[in-house]
Amino acid sequence: MSTFDLVIRGGTVVTAADTFEADIGIAGEQIAAVGRGLEGKRVVDASGRFVLPGGVDSHCHIEQIEADGSVHEETFESAARSAFAGGTTTLIPFAPQFKGQAIAAHAGDYAARAARSPIDYALHQIVTDPTDAVTGEELPAIVRNGVRSLKVFLTYDPFYVTDGEYLRVLEAAKRLGAIVCVHCENYDAIKWGADALLRDGRTEPASHALSRPRVVEREATYRAIALAELVDQPVHIFHVSCAEVADEIARAQSRGVKVTAETCPQYLVLTAADMARPGREGAKFMCSPSPRDAGDAEGLWRAIRNGTLDIISSDHCGYSFGGSRGKWIHGPDADFTRIPNGIPGLAARLAIAFSEGVSKGRIGINRFVALTATTPARRFGLYPRKGSIAPGFDADLVLWDPEREVTLTNDLMQHAIDYTPYEGLTVKGWPTMTVARGSVVMDNGVVTASPGAGRFLAASAAADAPGRPPR
Ligand code: URP
Ligand code: ZN
Ligand code: ZN
Repeated sequence: MSTFDLVIRGGTVVTAADTFEADIGIAGEQIAAVGRGLEGKRVVDASGRFVLPGGVDSHCHIEQIEADGSVHEETFESAARSAFAGGTTTLIPFAPQFKGQAIAAHAGDYAARAARSPIDYALHQIVTDPTDAVTGEELPAIVRNGVRSLKVFLTYDPFYVTDGEYLRVLEAAKRLGAIVCVHCENYDAIKWGADALLRDGRTEPASHALSRPRVVEREATYRAIALAELVDQPVHIFHVSCAEVADEIARAQSRGVKVTAETCPQYLVLTAADMARPGREGAKFMCSPSPRDAGDAEGLWRAIRNGTLDIISSDHCGYSFGGSRGKWIHGPDADFTRIPNGIPGLAARLAIAFSEGVSKGRIGINRFVALTATTPARRFGLYPRKGSIAPGFDADLVLWDPEREVTLTNDLMQHAIDYTPYEGLTVKGWPTMTVARGSVVMDNGVVTASPGAGRFLAASAAADAPGRPPR
């Protein structure tokens, strides 16, 4: 009998399809065997634990450069620590483009930051200025190099694209076999609402939600899908905040339009009321689309159960609350339109999805694995290397204690940001060990994150892309 480098023994292995008792034998960086009675140079006792594929967080903002030249506080190194702490082993952050500039203007810079990553990563390419040179020369080269997902924003200065520009991105993506991911909110409607609030002196963080109600997201989602339908190009809708938007997506899916979608933990446990906390505290919860109301999470779970939403990503986008760089970069009295949007969530993603989903009986554990690892790996071209447990997959695993109750604190998040919006939230279910390509990178909260140990993952065509034969 062969002796493996590492054996995870006696756990309950869970994939998107199956749940069974087995040992996992790891040779070098890959899973070599799944079976019984495996022997290893090192053996980890996983009895009483679920053994899950390492999480794949397909939407997070790491060390991203902003238009003003500032760089996100969360570095690849700190992000990896946080991801490993929470049971995630693969990240897909965003390489930027700014209007009036070639993609190449920042590509080398971003690649150099990412090269220090301790965690495996693929990349999405943000497209803000789809000129002929971008669609005709830069995007083909980017796709050839393994970046096969393009993000467009239908809102945000200075990122947003017009409908015409969006159509150009869709057309290029279709030609290149890439997927287009869309931030769906209506730029002009938000500006109109925000201007009115500011005229009334409503400058506080709570106005963020009032300036961008559900209909603003629903309209842009409808438009994003309709234009994708026109071009016949698959689109993935990012960070869906409520059932009203999920219903719009479901209608298109039922017509056979090639649209998929995700939601994020913030829409499952936070609400707009959090932004009305006293003083400036509300800024800690400001992200876009806005968290909605108490009843909205149940509608999202329905959409998760019926398959309309098939990924839970973090949309981790951290800005510290204190100091001069983060939420208050424009000063302590900045109005709500000048507070950076985004909240941290790398380490909390799996625990919240498990606790709210599996522990509360809303979904089964196989669906949890599909939502947080397998489907993101398939959608973004990382499967069959990432996202499941079988011989030949990278040995990315998380040992999960389904009974452990943990009250979330910022210390547990192990990120570079000085707060978590989930402070005080009690979750049931917690990762006890994370293994990344055969190395133990988290053991009972103690993280090892070695700069440069992560690899860039060149994406292939999505495993669930239309027209691709089933595996
Ligand atoms: O508020 C958010 N979501 N910030 C991150 C950027 C984005 O829109 O995904
Ligand atoms: Zn977005
Ligand atoms: Zn985002």
